Amino acid sequence: MTRTDQLRALSEEHSAHNYHPLPIVIAEAEGAWVTDVEGRRYLDLLAAYSAVNFGHRNPRLTEAARRQLDRVTLVSRAFEHDQFGPFVAELAALCGKDMVLPMNSGAEAVETALKTARKWGYEVKGVPAGEANIITFEGNFHGRTTTIVSFSTDPEAKDSYGPYTPGFRTVPYGDVEALRAAMDATTVGVLVEPIQGEAGVNVPPSGFLTAVRELCTANGSLMLADEIQSGLGRTGTTFAVEHENVVPDVYILGKALGGGIMPVSAVVADTDVLGVFKPGQHGSTFGGNPLACAIGREVVAMLRTGEYQERSRELGAHMHDRLGRLPSDVVREVRGRGLWAGVELRGRARPVSERLMELGVLAKETHETTIRLAPPLVISRQDLDWALDQLEIALKD
Ligand SMILES: Cc1ncc(COP(=O)(O)O)c(C=O)c1O
Repeated sequence: MTRTDQLRALSEEHSAHNYHPLPIVIAEAEGAWVTDVEGRRYLDLLAAYSAVNFGHRNPRLTEAARRQLDRVTLVSRAFEHDQFGPFVAELAALCGKDMVLPMNSGAEAVETALKTARKWGYEVKGVPAGEANIITFEGNFHGRTTTIVSFSTDPEAKDSYGPYTPGFRTVPYGDVEALRAAMDATTVGVLVEPIQGEAGVNVPPSGFLTAVRELCTANGSLMLADEIQSGLGRTGTTFAVEHENVVPDVYILGKALGGGIMPVSAVVADTDVLGVFKPGQHGSTFGGNPLACAIGREVVAMLRTGEYQERSRELGAHMHDRLGRLPSDVVREVRGRGLWAGVELRGRARPVSERLMELGVLAKETHETTIRLAPPLVISRQDLDWALDQLEIALKD
């Protein structure tokens, strides 16, 4: 049995109910690097997907968590605690909004945004009871709850989970005319990923997000931006909507908001929108707990410096410059922004991803022909160049 086979067997043994697409077993991690149980090191280019935008065990974040561990971690929701107010105020300020509703996973935040849009639609917009609809886009990935998979267009995510939640209309991503045609007086929201992550880092045509904003404003519908993967510095700006100077009505955040330490997600909007929830009408046991808030506050403080956005912009420009020079007989297209890329190959991506793993780089394929690259924003230029050298080698093999 080869070493890889052994690790694959070990991985499978430990994960009979939890599919792990890469056959390695991680024991430790720091910065942009992870180490497997045999002491082999890999550069982790899966950071957007796994929520470690700021690197594994970022010292600022582990320190914030440790400080809070020595004070208070969880309390009954019957109490206030001293991290909640500052967290929601600081995150709201980062987003330029009034209110924050913290949850835990990304899917829960998306569900919260959908509930917000419906409740707002009935109580503020005046849509007749039971008639609200929300528009979503083909190729979307917003999580795995029964309602969210109801508007998925991926059979793997959706099939066999019906009956599906009604009230969604799905149109092609990037198609302004289809969106316009689908909207009517009962449309309460448009749920959009500013860049579709799981679909393969799909950047919409220029002007699309502006058009979504304008159509939502004209139609009196909420623009719900799912920035769970695209947000928090990943694309070189705090939020990916900023590339078109668009301000959505609702930001949906998750993944890196928990600093790679805790599941922390949030919905952020103004009071006239999020204020539709009255105390006791929505929430979760763990949402907004003291440890989560302390870590989230540090994430917000780090983003306020602009340092991570700048790293993503500068290193991302360098990465895209190098990716753009890959041979066109192997690479069909490179998409993305900042330190985030989908490299669309002419052939299958899985063998390239496996070869990269042998070379010490973790980059998972998606949809047969795309390799996704999303290094932690703390990656050094030297490490990034080394990873890109390995990609060039893997593509030649
Ligand atoms: C854009 C987007 N929304 C929502 C989710 C779901 O987040 P979670 O897995 O934390 O529920 C993801 C996860 O990949 C995502 O990329």
